[in-house]
Amino acid sequence: MKTEIRERYGSIAKTEGSCCGPTCCGQDDVAELETPGRPAYEGHDQDVVETTNQGLGCGDPVRFSGIEEGMTVLDLGAGGGIDVFLSAKQVGSTGRVIGLDMTDEMLERAETNRKKLGLWNTVFLKGEIENIPLPARSVDRVISNCVINLVPDKEKAFREIHRVLREGGAFVISDIVTDGTIPDLYREDPFLWSGCVAGAMDKAAYLETIQKAGFGDVRVLTEKRTSDPGTLPFSVYSVTVTGVRGEGL
Ligand SMILES: C[S@@+](CC[C@H](N)C(=O)[O-])C[C@H]1O[C@@H](n2cnc3c(N)ncnc32)[C@H](O)[C@@H]1O
Repeated sequence: MKTEIRERYGSIAKTEGSCCGPTCCGQDDVAELETPGRPAYEGHDQDVVETTNQGLGCGDPVRFSGIEEGMTVLDLGAGGGIDVFLSAKQVGSTGRVIGLDMTDEMLERAETNRKKLGLWNTVFLKGEIENIPLPARSVDRVISNCVINLVPDKEKAFREIHRVLREGGAFVISDIVTDGTIPDLYREDPFLWSGCVAGAMDKAAYLETIQKAGFGDVRVLTEKRTSDPGTLPFSVYSVTVTGVRGEGL
């Protein structure tokens, strides 16, 4: 699955295009979820959006993240860096934003965007979400946009998110979930997996996984089902979810 994911996002990174296919990670319909009928990322710095949006997100985690000046923010599966740069505007010169990704071509694209935007309070790291290359309790916010569904071991991913967050820190994650378990026939298809479908978990099981990792105050902030039922015999849809390590915000 990881080879397929690297190849798919590596090639997307090298083109101006975005994810394609019947159940794309970043369907327009899904990306505009927080403000139905309005453009995705409305209300954010449009210079950043125009420079970096590849249409790969399925929500707007930054909008709900409560990021403040001086914070350290970590974006998991940062891609070309859109949410890193939107967060960078909010943390200011006393904060910093770290983008983690495992695909070289995406990291190169993010670095090009970083130079174009001149947002020097950002840094991009190569690594995997299941083994985040950062010390324990080192970040205030973890964000992620349409990525955790791609990770085969989601329990490990959420344990890692818990490890790197400081006490009182929170994650805000937009992701794809489903109702019920996806049949094996679909689950084992690498193309459907890398297209943000086959790796999606049942929503209730997803929330339980987060709670088991030690998070409190776990809540679904937004939920968006596409109007088009598509060709799949099960529903996949996007949610934005939050949880807190320790005492709360
Ligand atoms: C659907 S794209 C989303 C990119 C970005 N978050 C956005 O909204 O534009 C998924 C990204 O996650 C990265 N990725 C997938 N699985 C990963 C993992 N286990 N560890 C680190 N990065 C991963 C891919 O390389 C790709 O850049």
